[in-house]
Amino acid sequence: MRQSSRVHVALIMDGNGRWAERRGWERIRGHQAGGQVVERIVEAAPGLGIGVLTLYAFSSDNWSRPMPEVAGLMRLLRLHLRRERSRAMANGVAVEVIGRRDRLPQSLVREIERTEEATRGGSSLRLRLAVDYSARDAIVDAALRSREEPRAPDRERFAALLSSSPHVPVPPVDLLVRTGGEFRLSDFLLWECAYAELFFLPIMWPEFTVAELRRVLAEFEHRDRRFGRVAVGPGPEHSERRIG
Ligand code: FPP
Repeated sequence: MRQSSRVHVALIMDGNGRWAERRGWERIRGHQAGGQVVERIVEAAPGLGIGVLTLYAFSSDNWSRPMPEVAGLMRLLRLHLRRERSRAMANGVAVEVIGRRDRLPQSLVREIERTEEATRGGSSLRLRLAVDYSARDAIVDAALRSREEPRAPDRERFAALLSSSPHVPVPPVDLLVRTGGEFRLSDFLLWECAYAELFFLPIMWPEFTVAELRRVLAEFEHRDRRFGRVAVGPGPEHSERRIG
């Protein structure tokens, strides 16, 4: 079944640490290798029919990791933004960072602001990096903001309140991929994934490739997305009532 041509893909990039540890390396080397994979995926995304790409770079619960790993990740994110900014501008990639900013190092916040400003208006890909992000906190914040609304928000309005820029609402996630062999969402895009197709891969994030993403997208094309409706088919055996 052909799905919409510009899809929203969400990626949980898990397994960097284990990938490095298996080689006897520091965990940060896994994150560095993961950053290189991010560059390749972002470059390929528009050509694969991806309109919005949301990456889980650092969760609000990741602050409890050892300090050197946290500091290494913050540095990596800052360098990534600085290095990739001109490429994003040249390729029409609009970069947005979602999540809290008040606990991030000032140098990273400055890099985020510069990158968002420089790439605003890019139309080939909307790239959203989730940094110090918690879906539950985002929902609580949107609920608090909704108290300023003249009337109780419907789903569509609430989705807009969830977006960091309410005038540019975020479309729902069409497919979510998690590498690293775990089967959970870990507080990522809980609202936006209401009807997402989920793919859990056993490989570690540094092993993820553009070819693997292409394979997942091809499988996604064949998923029957019913959004709660009854399947339409030629005979009674195809119209059984099922949930979701
Ligand atoms: C989870 O793997 C991954 C992270 C907490 C960080 C993800 C960061 C990157 C892929 C690199 C930087 C990102 C960008 C956007 C340049 P883990 O450390 O939990 O792996 P483990 O489960 O094997 O320990």
